[in-house]
Amino acid sequence: MWKSGLSILIPVMFLMSILSLSMFELKTMTSFNVHHLTEHKPLLDPRDFGLPREGLSVNGIAFGWVPDDKIGSSMSLVNERVGAPGSTMGIYSQVTSADEFDDYQFTEPSRLRDIISSKAVLIATIMPLIPFETFTPALCAQIASSMRKLTDEGVFVWLRFAHEMNWYSRDGDGPALHGGNPNLKNTYTGTPVQFIQMWNILSEAVKDNLMVKMFWSPNSGQDKDQWFPGPAVVDIIGMDFYPKDRSRTPEKVYKPIHDNYALKYNLPFVIGETGVKGSSSSEFKMWWLSGVVDSRLKSALPNYMSCSWFEFDKTDDPEGYDYTIVLKDGALLNRTKSILIPR
Ligand SMILES: *[C@@H]1O[C@H](CO)[C@@H](O)[C@H](O)[C@H]1NC(C)=O
Repeated sequence: MWKSGLSILIPVMFLMSILSLSMFELKTMTSFNVHHLTEHKPLLDPRDFGLPREGLSVNGIAFGWVPDDKIGSSMSLVNERVGAPGSTMGIYSQVTSADEFDDYQFTEPSRLRDIISSKAVLIATIMPLIPFETFTPALCAQIASSMRKLTDEGVFVWLRFAHEMNWYSRDGDGPALHGGNPNLKNTYTGTPVQFIQMWNILSEAVKDNLMVKMFWSPNSGQDKDQWFPGPAVVDIIGMDFYPKDRSRTPEKVYKPIHDNYALKYNLPFVIGETGVKGSSSSEFKMWWLSGVVDSRLKSALPNYMSCSWFEFDKTDDPEGYDYTIVLKDGALLNRTKSILIPR
């Protein structure tokens, strides 16, 4: 293959010189016409964000899963059932000590094998269950070296840090999570200012690792602005949302944050997790799934790059649902496949 390379090199170079000239002319003309709209922003390339070339993708939207570890579903099982490799794999990890980051949720041997063999982007959702103000550079250095263990294995990481911060800092679930500590009232503890300080420390700690992207993912509540650390330290914009009924289409839900943050700063927009609440009916699930991978949604949200489905069965939780569309019901799986792998 190497030898035959030389004989085609010269014609290829000739072709390239013609092409680059016309590309240059085209760019000049285009940037003249649309200058005020694009401000010369380069197009986003999914490869720059580590998305696998052969991963599941629908209408230009890379699609993946947040597999439920409690029902024993590995990513490889989900992929096998779907018949195609998911592009993303979401995993949750809780920081419970200011002295030590225990990364077992990523590095437990069978989990690590599952992550590596999936070839998916790992959406590492790290949840600070200790107060924001207790995050030190030393703790963040430990998180960064955990991420380094993964990237050294070829795993590309989207670090979805303190997701849904605008909700978990006022959800009232604290004492139960923190061993009954009445001082910790919510899942997360801290103000927007403390959140941004914490974010900046972690962002600094991982910034020399080019295979780690900082992923900011509030939930759909109103007060997002005060929680935004800014485009200098955020690589990916996203939002968590689970519809309870059909009153809002995906476009209505996601377009404001897509336009106000992703489009504005030329960052990719990623749905880090979604599913439906309010009912576990197959019709409702398929309505939402079709909506989030619809080509019209992609046209309306040009920076929309990827979506992960929350493939969890939470029927044991008091207010939980069966969110699954792959693992539990063969007929539903067939419908899921017809949407994600259209023929
Ligand atoms: C799903 O589709 C396959 C292949 O078409 C078929 O053999 C199977 O019976 C279907 N399963 C259900 C539960 O409908």
